This record gives sequence, structure tokens and C-alpha cells, in this order.
Amino acid sequence: MLHFPRLLLLPLAAYFEVTHPLPNVTKPIARNFAGNIGVNRVGHPNNTLWFWAFEKGEGSITVGAGERENEPWLIWLNGGPGSSSLVGLMTENGPLQVTGDYSIVENEFSWNKLADAFWVDQPVGTGFSTSDAAGYVDSEDQLGQDFVGFLTNLVKVFPSLATRPFYLTGESYAGTFIPYITKAIFSTPNPPVNLRKISIGDGTIGGFALYEELSTVITLETYPEIIGFDPDVFQYFKEQEHLCGYDINLTYPQHGIIPTITDPFTTTTLFSNSEVLPRIPRKRSLSRRTISSTGSSLSTRDLDNRAVEIEERRALLKRNLIGRPNGTLDPTYGCFLWEEMTDYAQNFTFPWTVGEFDAYDIPDALFPEVPSDPSVFLNDNRTRAALHAPIKEWVEIFGNPFGNSTQEGPGTNPFGDPSVEPMAFMTELATNASERGVHIIIYEGNDDSLVAHRGLQVVIQNITFGGIQGFTRKPATPFTDDEGRFAGIVHQERNLTYALFQNAGHFVPRSVPEAAFVFLREFILGSNTTGLVDGSHVVGGEDSILAEDVMPGTTAIFYGHGSTASSLIIPSETLASWSSFLATATATAFPCGTPQL
Ligand SMILES: *[C@@H]1O[C@H](CO)[C@@H](O)[C@H](O)[C@H]1NC(C)=O
Ligand SMILES: *[C@@H]1O[C@H](CO)[C@@H](O)[C@H](O)[C@H]1NC(C)=O
Ligand SMILES: *[C@@H]1O[C@H](CO)[C@@H](O)[C@H](O)[C@H]1NC(C)=O
Ligand SMILES: *[C@@H]1O[C@H](CO)[C@@H](O)[C@H](O)[C@H]1NC(C)=O
Ligand SMILES: *[C@@H]1O[C@H](CO)[C@@H](O)[C@H](O)[C@H]1NC(C)=O
Ligand SMILES: *[C@@H]1O[C@H](CO)[C@@H](O)[C@H](O)[C@H]1NC(C)=O
Ligand SMILES: *[C@@H]1O[C@H](CO)[C@@H](O)[C@H](O)[C@H]1NC(C)=O
Ligand SMILES: *[C@@H]1O[C@H](CO)[C@@H](O)[C@H](O)[C@H]1NC(C)=O
Ligand SMILES: *[C@@H]1O[C@H](CO)[C@@H](O)[C@H](O)[C@H]1NC(C)=O
Ligand SMILES: *[C@@H]1O[C@H](CO)[C@@H](O)[C@H](O)[C@H]1NC(C)=O
Ligand SMILES: *[C@@H]1O[C@H](CO)[C@@H](O)[C@H](O)[C@H]1NC(C)=O
Repeated sequence: MLHFPRLLLLPLAAYFEVTHPLPNVTKPIARNFAGNIGVNRVGHPNNTLWFWAFEKGEGSITVGAGERENEPWLIWLNGGPGSSSLVGLMTENGPLQVTGDYSIVENEFSWNKLADAFWVDQPVGTGFSTSDAAGYVDSEDQLGQDFVGFLTNLVKVFPSLATRPFYLTGESYAGTFIPYITKAIFSTPNPPVNLRKISIGDGTIGGFALYEELSTVITLETYPEIIGFDPDVFQYFKEQEHLCGYDINLTYPQHGIIPTITDPFTTTTLFSNSEVLPRIPRKRSLSRRTISSTGSSLSTRDLDNRAVEIEERRALLKRNLIGRPNGTLDPTYGCFLWEEMTDYAQNFTFPWTVGEFDAYDIPDALFPEVPSDPSVFLNDNRTRAALHAPIKEWVEIFGNPFGNSTQEGPGTNPFGDPSVEPMAFMTELATNASERGVHIIIYEGNDDSLVAHRGLQVVIQNITFGGIQGFTRKPATPFTDDEGRFAGIVHQERNLTYALFQNAGHFVPRSVPEAAFVFLREFILGSNTTGLVDGSHVVGGEDSILAEDVMPGTTAIFYGHGSTASSLIIPSETLASWSSFLATATATAFPCGTPQL
């Protein structure tokens, strides 16, 4: 197809237009553009970022400078660090989704249906982006500078983007990238783009202890299945939580900065940095469970027998618990409470004993999973050529985004990132954002154990925005999808929006594509006021059940082989007796319920 007038107008864009057919893509797709764009780093001519962009409407990306000045555009970033954003494009929110048999299907909830959308591989070296051998980022500030350089060049290719409202969105470790990129944009005189909102899903805004460890007890209250509904085990974890100081009491409004919490690495030598937490997102761990290949060959009957065996072992453990430290921190795990919880589940609790504890999606204990792997498509030479991608093997996670800064280096976090977590400057960032009318959106999937919602609520209560610290009222307003189904909780104050999605794991648009699409339309791109605090009134009302700290998880845990899954349905009596136990167990522990005005 010829786009003659536009080609004349935009010679640079013509180079990037994807015109050759893509393998396995059988239906027409939105006009799209792809390729590498330099980051303008002095002395590093080969440093580029790679993008793949899809139009909302025919010709919408290539209109001229100053046109369509009210029409939004967005960038999506995956995390890692080192995760290619094509993972998001092809398994979460893009127009082409890869299926279990490696064919490609359309996504009716693709984010480019609401705005011109760019999926960008960054930092340099990630995905199809490129770097000189000595050109990797040495800090998040460098990463932010590179991104601004990329944007400066991108708007030369697509001139309308310079002034149209820009939405920077992403997930997971992009909770670190996005604040730093935003800071770099705020620090640039005459920035190349018109930033309006930033949106972070299941993000690492706080430090490691805050996003990974602090929420453990809340996670157990959401999914008591993890400990087989055992009250003694629950009390044990609560005690450990208290000893670590992770039982932070949130108040609405919050009074005073929340002090830095215990770094688990200072409490035990069990884990070196590199042994904890595989990168986010990791492929399903191919460690001990694959080697023994437990899950794959077991029939349901075997699983049932196994369940009996596990019950016996669990009874043993309960006796073991009595011998465990009482009133002192467990010497093995220290404050690695998330690791202790997941080990516990895999040691003792059916079906995790035969499945896998999916850190990103608690009710998913399937093993092995149906693959969700874009690498075959992306490494096909026809795809690469059509997408103007470099001759380079595409991998989901690039292992060394910080160059020689390894996971074990002193002064780095477990990912080799030498920069301080964004929590340290979020108040300054929010102050800058207020001055520029930039809104901040933070959302969570309720089934994510790894970057769970409690940690992000602590983050929000620890930020001063619009002149006041934290939210003044507890999030408790429901929002719905287009079918009117409950999707989760939304709350908005002083240009900061928080949402908690029901039935969603770490990858919210993958778990609940429709709800994520509605959220993008209404709350990220739109200005829907549901959940907005307006004086003493909250738009959409407040529901006292939603004001609890815990939104109960689903009652089915899925296990077995991905293609022949079974589910373990928790009987309602079990849930009821657990609820009545919790009603007494937590009455004193979380006195944060009542709004104080
Ligand atoms: C940039 O890439 C070219 C082509 O691969 C290579 O010849 C050149 O040495 C690279 N430059 C630097 C600074 O690494
Ligand atoms: C990493 O180390 C290698 C070998 O020591 C060196 O050649 C390279 O320049 C280093 N890269 C960076 C980013 O420092
Ligand atoms: C805030 O903006 C100022 C420039 O006005 C800039 O120097 C500073 O780095 C910015 N900080 C953050 C965290 O955005
Ligand atoms: C939270 O409140 C409980 C009950 O008053 C208290 O035991 C606990 O120490 C508090 N947590 C912190 C971190 O101060
Ligand atoms: C709260 O924010 C301050 C910076 O204002 C930071 O030093 C502190 O570590 C934060 N607290 C937590 C629990 O992250
Ligand atoms: C821990 O100690 C308390 C009092 O010292 C006792 O009541 C409780 O039974 C002990 N718990 C365990 C699991 O040993
Ligand atoms: C799980 O089992 C391993 C191996 O027996 C043991 O070392 C570890 O302490 C157990 N962890 C928990 C939390 O039960
Ligand atoms: C295309 O899809 C088929 C399954 O229909 C799969 O076997 C093949 O690997 C895919 N090829 C590419 C290049 O994605
Ligand atoms: C794909 O392209 C690379 C680089 O040109 C070449 O080495 C490789 O053989 C090609 N693979 C196939 C399957 O054609
Ligand atoms: C919120 O943003 C709007 C612009 O969208 C601005 O007019 C208003 O002052 C901001 N409010 C706060 C508290 O920052
Ligand atoms: C705001 O979003 C909700 C979705 O939860 C929707 O039901 C409602 O109609 C929207 N309000 C407006 C004014 O569009």
C-alpha cells in the first residue's frame, strides 16, 4: 500500500514503516513502525533503543508537527531489569499475542486501540536495542538521559509527538525506570515531549524489602491456602513480620515519614544477592522442579496420593514449629519472609508441593505452563527484516543491563543496579509533577505476591504530593469493567491515582485484559472521577468491605500440566472458619482501618 503524500511529508517515518508481511500474522493489523533510534550519548554512536509502534487510526502517528494536539500517545515499558518490552507487546497489551502453539492472534483489548502506542526496548542492550561494548548504563540517571535522547530523536521522525499529550506507562522494574526517566524529563529545559501522566503497574518504587518482603503477611491473608489455613503457621509469620518491623501501621492521613525498614540482607547470610529473586519477569524457574519433572508426568490420582503424604508431613512441621524460634527471628531466613513463605508452600502445601509457586500469580500452580514465548516469532529472519531489527538474537531478559555491575557488586541492589530506589525522591518528583500538572498512577494486581500491594500502599503513604503526605482516606471505592463487573478498587487524591485489580497477577493486562483496557481508557488517558476525594465526599462512594486491608483471593488454585489443568477449590466452610480466625487474629495488628479526618 502506498502512503504517497505522507511519505513526501515524513521521509524519516517512511524508513520505519513495516511494509513486509510478518510470519504467522494472517489478519490485517494497524499500520506500524519499527526500528532503532540513537540515544545521543557522546562517544557511543552504537547506543540505540528499539521501538515498535502501532497506530490508533490510519495515519495518526505520521501527522505533521502541531497537528492533533489533543490526541494522546503512549509508551509501554517492561521491567526486568533487562526485560524486552516485546514481552508486554506479545503477551500483555499489544495487538499481536503469541499463543501456546506459537501462532499469533489478535488482541481485541490492545492498547493502541485507545492511543498511538509504542513498545520500547530499553535500557541500551535490551531486546533489539543496541549498545557499544562499553556503553551500558552505569546508573538510572544515565538510563533517564538515554531515554530523553531517544525521545529527542523520535519526535524528529514523528513530529506531532512533540506536542501531543504523552503517557509514560510500564510495569514491574519499570517502577524504577519510569521515575528516573520522569526526573530526567523534568530536569531537561524544553523537554522534547509533553508529558501528562506516568503510570506504574506492580512496580519497584520502594526498596527491595518494601516491595518483596513487607507484604508477606497480607499475602497470606489474601491466600491462606499457601499455608494450608494453619493458624499456628500464620501466627509464626506474623511474629516474624513484627520482629522485622514490617508490620507498618498506615494511617489516613499519614503522620510523618515512614522510617526505612530492615534490609533482609543484613539479617542472614543464607542468601547472597544472586540467589534471591530471579530477575523480574523471569521465565518459569527451570531449577529443581524441572530436573525432577514432578508435575509433568503425574496424573490427578498421583496428585491425590501426594496430597495425603503432604498432610502427614505438614503435621510433622507443626511439631517442628514448636521447636522453632519463639520470640526471635528465624536464623535461617531472617527477614526474607517472602522466600520463607514460598519455600514453606513448596515444602508442605498441596498443590505447590507438586506444582510451582508462581510469584507473579498466586493461584497459578501449573507445572509446566503452556508456553507464552515470543522468541520464535521475533528471531525468525522474516520478522527481523520486516521490523528493521538488528542481526542479534532477541532474548526476553538481557542479563547485564548495567554492564559489569553484577548482581553481587557492593553498593548495588540484587539486580546490579547501583542507583537508589525511587522512594528516596518520590516527594521531590511529585512536587515537580504538581508544578507541571503531571499525574501519577500506581496500580497493582491482587494476586501478585512478589511486588504485592501492601508495599505500594506504604510507598504512597510515604510520599508528600499536593502538599499533604499520603492519601487522607483509605482506598475503598469499586470500579467496574464495561460489562459492569467489579474490577477492583480505585482511589484518587491530588493527582495521584491508585488501583487494586481483583483476579490479576503481576502482569495485569495479561490477567484481566478488559479491565486493564477500561482502566487505561478511563483513568490513565481519561479523567474519570470515580474514587476521587472531593472534600469529605468520595465520588462513587466507599465500601467498608473494600476498606479492609485484604481483598480475598480466588477460591480455586490451578495445578497440573498447563494444557490439562485441574483446580483445587477451597470449600466455603474452610474459608469461613479462616475468616473468623482472622477476625480475632488481626483485630489488634492492623489498627489502620479507620479514616482520621
Ligand atoms: C559501532 O558499530 C560498528 C559496526 O558494528 C563498529 O564497527 C564500531 O566499532 C562500533 N563503535 C563503537 C564505538 O563501538
Ligand atoms: C566490562 O569489562 C570488560 C573486561 O574487563 C571491559 O572490556 C569492558 O569495557 C567493561 N564494560 C564496562 C561497561 O565497563
Ligand atoms: C525536579 O525539577 C528540577 C528542575 O526544576 C530538577 O533539577 C530536579 O532534578 C527534579 N527532580 C525530580 C526528582 O524530578
Ligand atoms: C504497629 O502497631 C502494632 C500494634 O500497636 C505494634 O505492635 C507494632 O509495633 C506497630 N508497628 C510498627 C512498625 O511500629
Ligand atoms: C520513606 O521516605 C523516605 C524519604 O522521604 C525514605 O528515606 C524512607 O526510606 C522511606 N520509607 C520506606 C519504608 O521506604
Ligand atoms: C511461644 O511462647 C509463648 C509464651 O512464651 C507460648 O505461649 C507459646 O505457646 C509459644 N509458642 C510456640 C509455638 O512454642
Ligand atoms: C523447606 O525445606 C528445606 C529442605 O528440607 C529446608 O531447608 C527449609 O528450611 C524448608 N523451609 C521451610 C520454610 O519450610
Ligand atoms: C508459526 O506458528 C506455528 C504454529 O501454528 C509455529 O509452529 C511456528 O513456529 C510459528 N512460526 C513463527 C515464525 O512464529
Ligand atoms: C538468518 O539470518 C542470519 C544472518 O543473516 C543467518 O546467519 C541465518 O542463517 C539466517 N537464518 C535462516 C534460518 O535463514
Ligand atoms: C492537579 O492537576 C491539575 C491539572 O491537571 C492542576 O490544575 C491541579 O493544580 C493539580 N492539583 C494538585 C494538588 O497538584
Ligand atoms: C468511570 O469509569 C467507570 C468504570 O468503573 C464507569 O462505569 C463510569 O461510567 C465512568 N464514568 C464516566 C463519567 O465516564
